[in-house]
Amino acid sequence: MHTVLVTGGAGFIGSVTTDQLVARGDRVVVIDDLSRGFADNVHPDATFVQSDLGDRGVVESLLADYRPDAVIHFAGYIAVGESVRDPGPFVDRNVGRSTTLLDCLVRNQIGNVVFSSSAAVYGEPDQLPIGEDQAKYPTSPYGWTKWAFEQVLGFYEVAHGIRHVALRYFNAAGATPSRVERHEPETHLIPNILEAARGGQTISVFGTDYATPDGTAIRDYVHVSDLADAHLRAVDYLIEGGASTPLNLGSGVGFSVMQVIDAVRRVTGQDFPVDLGDRRDGDPPELVADPSRARAVLGWEPKRSSLDEIVRSCWELRDA
Ligand SMILES: NC(=O)c1ccc[n+]([C@@H]2O[C@H](COP(=O)([O-])OP(=O)(O)OC[C@H]3O[C@@H](n4cnc5c(N)ncnc54)[C@H](O)[C@@H]3O)[C@@H](O)[C@H]2O)c1
Repeated sequence: MHTVLVTGGAGFIGSVTTDQLVARGDRVVVIDDLSRGFADNVHPDATFVQSDLGDRGVVESLLADYRPDAVIHFAGYIAVGESVRDPGPFVDRNVGRSTTLLDCLVRNQIGNVVFSSSAAVYGEPDQLPIGEDQAKYPTSPYGWTKWAFEQVLGFYEVAHGIRHVALRYFNAAGATPSRVERHEPETHLIPNILEAARGGQTISVFGTDYATPDGTAIRDYVHVSDLADAHLRAVDYLIEGGASTPLNLGSGVGFSVMQVIDAVRRVTGQDFPVDLGDRRDGDPPELVADPSRARAVLGWEPKRSSLDEIVRSCWELRDA
């Protein structure tokens, strides 16, 4: 049994990861300021501390009280478009307050960090599928903050011996029987298409003239349960002395926006109007992971990440 501190555990991916940690018998402490999360997302057997990560006093006393073996750091702001309009809070939370967390870990001699990074660090990739060593050209302030904090983690390893795994998620999606994706506002494609399927309203497609087979953008969707599983494996890997590394978490298969719309129509049996609009700035045509390093390092295999299963897992819970 390990003790794990989960920052951002009242959010989407953090709550599913907390559920899996509790289920395997770990002791879990969640810190979340509920700026974007929900208290009822936190498993009742986890200890919940409602606080900002940047509050040194709270974080220090929490670390001293619970002495976690590892920290999984999800807390941060995630909306790419918002980061373009108002970058300050993203830099502040995703880099500044996250660095405060690292300082508290140093002072308490806690050294294993699993970090929620993102495919956004790559920007427009030079080649596909995307391997971890490809050039990083983030195209948004959000992507930049993720890449910057990966480097901060590298500095803290050299200076203080903190080891880390930076998990670069592609598109997190799907639901579990206890947790559905809830972002306010929701900017992610699958929950928005499902909302259209539920209510019959129009779904907007941004860009139909990309150099892809049907002209719409291609992304790699990975089920939130598979993502959570990778975090548990990364915790064990670090506790066993594994070396710091970035790892891509994706299924390795890409689907276009039109293919996702077709999957929702197929799985739900519902039809809805589609509005074909212009591209959004900074949206690359295609992002597909090469997940082979995660397979080799963690023995991780996405098991629930077929598109139909992702859509079905959300649709089955629509009235829950
Ligand atoms: N959802 C995706 O597709 C995706 C893809 C790539 C990377 N990520 C990363 O994964 C992580 C989790 O994503 P999510 O979809 O679960 O987001 P989410 O918004 O549902 O969860 C983030 C949580 O962090 C909390 N938080 C934010 N700032 C905080 C602070 N300073 N102190 C304490 N709590 C704070 C929020 O209240 C929220 O509960 C984020 O770091 C995100 O950048 C997500």
